[in-house]
Amino acid sequence: MNLHARRPALRPAVPFAQTDSRAAFAADVVAGLSEARKRVPAKYFYDRRGSELFAAITTLPEYYPTRAETAILSAHAAEITAALPAPSALVEFGAGEAVKARILLAAAPHIEAYVPVDISAEFLAEEATRLTRDLPRLRVLPVAADFTGAFDLPGEVASWPKAGFFPGSTIGNFEPAEAAAFLYEAAHLLGPGARMIVGVDLVKDATILNAAYDDAAGVTAAFNLNLLRRINDELDADFDLEAFEHCAFYNVPVHRIEMHLVARSSQRVRVAGRVFDFRRGETIHTESSYKYTIGSFAALAAGSGWTPSALWTDPDGYFSVHLLSRS
Ligand SMILES: C[S@@+](CC[C@H](N)C(=O)[O-])C[C@H]1O[C@@H](n2cnc3c(N)ncnc32)[C@H](O)[C@@H]1O
Repeated sequence: MNLHARRPALRPAVPFAQTDSRAAFAADVVAGLSEARKRVPAKYFYDRRGSELFAAITTLPEYYPTRAETAILSAHAAEITAALPAPSALVEFGAGEAVKARILLAAAPHIEAYVPVDISAEFLAEEATRLTRDLPRLRVLPVAADFTGAFDLPGEVASWPKAGFFPGSTIGNFEPAEAAAFLYEAAHLLGPGARMIVGVDLVKDATILNAAYDDAAGVTAAFNLNLLRRINDELDADFDLEAFEHCAFYNVPVHRIEMHLVARSSQRVRVAGRVFDFRRGETIHTESSYKYTIGSFAALAAGSGWTPSALWTDPDGYFSVHLLSRS
């Protein structure tokens, strides 16, 4: 008997799509490359290939954040989810592979809907489809959107009590003032009585941080350079990927990792009909990843519409998971 022939076809989870257009991507890249210190917003890392490369980064020996945060969530899932309303909808900002959400969902049958929000629409649809298959009891309602701007949650969860989930230290990719604005907006999006679980990477020895963002296998370098490949493919650009190299370092006074792409030689690049000149050694700043202390993050949250309610860290004190309640 062929069992596969009897298996019903998996219904794909189609995201509620609110992502930006190619025009917005072109405008942001042209504006960023026109600045005195060239930069491109980190959110543009995440096309399908970028999401796959990030998933590969999370398995690297040097990349402690995923291991540390996963260990915290696994050890405390029951306690963390007990603080969420019952029933509730879990809204994850920047869901990626949803590996960490799966830990919470497994511990909390009272989370009856899961709303993964991600800018990487194709990857999101695939992960949401997989989750629908694996957890048939759960309503999975993916939203393809840029969480740095306004977007709507699916109408199905409008009246549900909600909990936000923002793991992966993605909050560190914001400038601190932007992180505060994001938390403030999230409080309004999630509504009265909301909770928010935020994964925050902690200030630590620069050697550990530098290795995490410049791994020996070169996966983070490939992730960084993939941005230029994406710009070439989608914005009619002619970056020579061999002519740029990955550079990442911990900027101690401002508590942030900086990722750059460094021009190996002086060169001229065309992007979306515009011309950009690079000096040898000039960089494009592609990502910042701010590191907080427990106190500095709690103060940021407290000034942004949330009351810090509980906190967990790993035994090394590398990473923290904060439970916030809407003030
Ligand atoms: C650092 S990864 C974290 C992924 C996953 N949550 C984890 O903890 O491993 C950041 C995720 O956020 C998404 N993302 C980044 N910027 C975004 C934006 N502005 N709007 C929506 N999603 C974004 C990326 O596509 C990616 O899946």
